Amino acid sequence: MEKALLARCRNRWWLVILAGFLLWFVLILSFHANPIHFVNYSSIDLAENYSQSNNVRSDHAKNKGETGRPFEGMKETSSSVPSSEIAEEKAIRQYREADSISCKGRHVYIQKLPRQFNEDMLRHCESLNNWTNMCDSLSNFGLGPRLPKSNKVLGNTGWYATDQFSLEVIFHNRMRRYKCLTDDSSVASAIFVPYYAGLDVARYLWDSNRTLRDVGPSDLVRWLRRRQEWKVMGGRDHFLVAGRIVWDFRRENDRPPNWGNNLVLLPESMNMTILVLESSLIDRGNDFAIPYPTYFHPSKDVEVRQWQSRMRRQKRRYLFSFAGAPRKDLYNSIRDKIISQCRASRRKCKLLECDSRGHRCHKPIFLMKLFQSSVFCLQPPGDSYTRRSAFDSMLAGCIPVFFHSGSAYDQYKWHLPGDHSKYSVFIPENHVKDGKVVLERRLLQIPKKDVLAMREEVIRLIPAILYADPTSELENYEDAFDLSVKGVLERVQRIREETLG
Ligand SMILES: *[C@@H]1O[C@H](CO)[C@@H](O)[C@H](O)[C@H]1NC(C)=O
Ligand SMILES: *[C@@H]1O[C@H](CO)[C@@H](O)[C@H](O)[C@H]1NC(C)=O
Ligand SMILES: *[C@@H]1O[C@H](CO)[C@@H](O)[C@H](O)[C@H]1NC(C)=O
Ligand SMILES: *[C@@H]1O[C@H](CO)[C@@H](O)[C@H](O)[C@H]1NC(C)=O
Repeated sequence: MEKALLARCRNRWWLVILAGFLLWFVLILSFHANPIHFVNYSSIDLAENYSQSNNVRSDHAKNKGETGRPFEGMKETSSSVPSSEIAEEKAIRQYREADSISCKGRHVYIQKLPRQFNEDMLRHCESLNNWTNMCDSLSNFGLGPRLPKSNKVLGNTGWYATDQFSLEVIFHNRMRRYKCLTDDSSVASAIFVPYYAGLDVARYLWDSNRTLRDVGPSDLVRWLRRRQEWKVMGGRDHFLVAGRIVWDFRRENDRPPNWGNNLVLLPESMNMTILVLESSLIDRGNDFAIPYPTYFHPSKDVEVRQWQSRMRRQKRRYLFSFAGAPRKDLYNSIRDKIISQCRASRRKCKLLECDSRGHRCHKPIFLMKLFQSSVFCLQPPGDSYTRRSAFDSMLAGCIPVFFHSGSAYDQYKWHLPGDHSKYSVFIPENHVKDGKVVLERRLLQIPKKDVLAMREEVIRLIPAILYADPTSELENYEDAFDLSVKGVLERVQRIREETLG
């Protein structure tokens, strides 16, 4: 009896050892045969070490205009880092990634587009806009020129004069350092298409030749369609960022206005996920809104925390404020009413007018100062429903006042809470138009404790509405980029499940 038991036990030991050996064997095999290459060529380009990229930045500041090529983000492999070191870094990274299961279902492959769709536009940045030279705005990985230190208004680091239409470049550079990048498209959950759609169309927006505006999009989809990656799901796992409002990409040929190109309406685009600054809100559309870039691009968690606590302590002299211009040519616009109510409120409301004299309203420092000194920030629609200013003011801990649900609630569902009364005040546009509401009185009626709770929520949301510095990563926060990628991955996953039945 005892003997038999012993024998059985011994058998078990053998079993365990055998199983262990087998496991080890399988591991070794899979390590060698592993088809997943977690490190992407371009993540190395940018990984190049922060101090080095800083040098590149200041060099750029010195030579800007001379070389005409301020695009560090686009550099080929770095020459100054010894290749053995790169290999080492690569191996470490590979190990770390392979070791973690956190990338499961989150791999992204960057489609290797011909340069005409991105890099060439940056190379010829001086010709992107007929009125201003975009080269400065697109420098520093798309963040724009560094803002001078100003302890009173801005933090010491992470502040840039970011152009509202530079998101395509920022997003691309962030994607190059995305944790779960893969070089093997067959294991990717989604395919990123780094086309600079907005920079492309902006060159021809005011040109009457429609064909000219449509060249980029039609060349792009023709190229994409021929790729292996397209055939897997007919492009339904593809996504791109078109960093302007969707109305710049949604021209229907037979209908006025004759504005923009037809990017989002092409049959191929219908299969893709297109991220824009303002979406069409059309049922089952393929366009999704993500936040406008703000001026703050922190590279460390501590910068975020410091900024948040500073905004909590901030003294706010004005009950409410408005930065913007009237829209005299839009007869439905409530901006005139908003401006006159603000004037009537005297010391309780601060107005920063963006008329021809009002160049202050384009200077980040004046805007940020205004928003930091206000409890509420008015965000009436302008030419379209959304405004960059909504994000700049939230960044300053100012509670946004919206007048239309298309200005935020219906738009940024991946980034803002569903219950909008937690972080904002809603006053229907009609009530302002009819003169039914006196803004000052309405805002003063909100109990103090509600104001504090809303402000705290706005401050809590700060990381979710900013795009971190593409040369580094935040550790404990998901920023607007992370939330966007997450939203795309979930959507593609849903589509995949639907197709599989
Ligand atoms: C990063 O920069 C530091 C400080 O300049 C340097 O010591 C280190 O070797 C650099 N690492 C790489 C990979 O370039
Ligand atoms: C921009 O300038 C070019 C060259 O001067 C001109 O052909 C083009 O029509 C202009 N585009 C716009 C939108 O004004
Ligand atoms: C419009 O642009 C296309 C493409 O560049 C060109 O072939 C065509 O001649 C232009 N049409 C007009 C009316 O200028
Ligand atoms: C869009 O996706 C569907 C389903 O995968 C596919 O049948 C169709 O061919 C795709 N459209 C294009 C233009 O590739």
